[in-house]
Amino acid sequence: PTPLVVVVGSVNLDVVTELDHLPRAGQTLIARSVRRNVGGKGANQAVAAQITCGAVSFCGRVGDDEDGRALVAELDRRGVATDLVAAVADAPSGAAYIAVADGQNTIVVAAGANGVWGALSDDERAAIETAPVVVCQLEIPDEVIVAASQQCAGRFVLNAAPARPVPESVLGRCDPVIVNDNELADLTGLAVDGPDSAIAAARELRSRGANSVVATLGAAGAVWVDSDGDGRQRSPRVEVVDSTGAGDQFVGALAARLATGDELADAVRWATAAASISVQATGTLESYPEAGEIRAAVEGLPKPSEG
Ligand code: RIB
Ligand code: NA
Repeated sequence: PTPLVVVVGSVNLDVVTELDHLPRAGQTLIARSVRRNVGGKGANQAVAAQITCGAVSFCGRVGDDEDGRALVAELDRRGVATDLVAAVADAPSGAAYIAVADGQNTIVVAAGANGVWGALSDDERAAIETAPVVVCQLEIPDEVIVAASQQCAGRFVLNAAPARPVPESVLGRCDPVIVNDNELADLTGLAVDGPDSAIAAARELRSRGANSVVATLGAAGAVWVDSDGDGRQRSPRVEVVDSTGAGDQFVGALAARLATGDELADAVRWATAAASISVQATGTLESYPEAGEIRAAVEGLPKPSEG
């Protein structure tokens, strides 16, 4: 099918260790378990979007190696179109070393092929130009993000993660830029410690050029600011087991709903429900629920309060 969402982003081999507690500086710990999975913010978001709208294409770079072939095969298996993923000769596939303990995590990324991506191919440009929604994150070089934002003729969604400055021209294309509370504080220099301060900071980010801003606040849900004003979606009370990649799920699910015609508030509601399920189970995209499960969770969500 013609893609509804094109994700331009990173793909990593995630090496995930489960620990009793996160390591301190200088400490050696023995893990309870280790597993390897496809990850990377871009790939995770592509899988999440695919679950929601079923027509997603991923643009990314892997190394010309076993890991790269396995990552592409796994994305294929999950229904994401990978014909635009290319193997580069000068770097290995990206890898992420993740430690999870007590619902918290640390992530160290070795960018590899994701970091040597210099330019979009002609085929990538064509796919980006015709997609209703294009999604980027900040785990790939700025040149690629800038090019994708300029090539996009539909709606450009940026997940400004991990936190680093966003080129001004890119911010001006975002509708929305999606951040968590820490990223919002980093980007604006404002303190973010709850829904009210998050809305204030989101307004500030919007005044710098973004068409709309969505901020995820963990247990406090999510807030958004757009040309119609602002709003908040509470999340249900859940026990957090592993929130790794829950932000990616939120972004992918939200983008997919925008691509199928949702208003921002409804897309935030859907994405909040999706993320609230995945944080309750171990794993990143292994814990992303099917669309039917998300639909049922949306019914049970607290009503949004729009301001
Ligand atoms: O957001 C989670 C992701 O961040 C992981 O899958 C890891 O690969 C890093 O990119
Ligand atoms: Na999870």
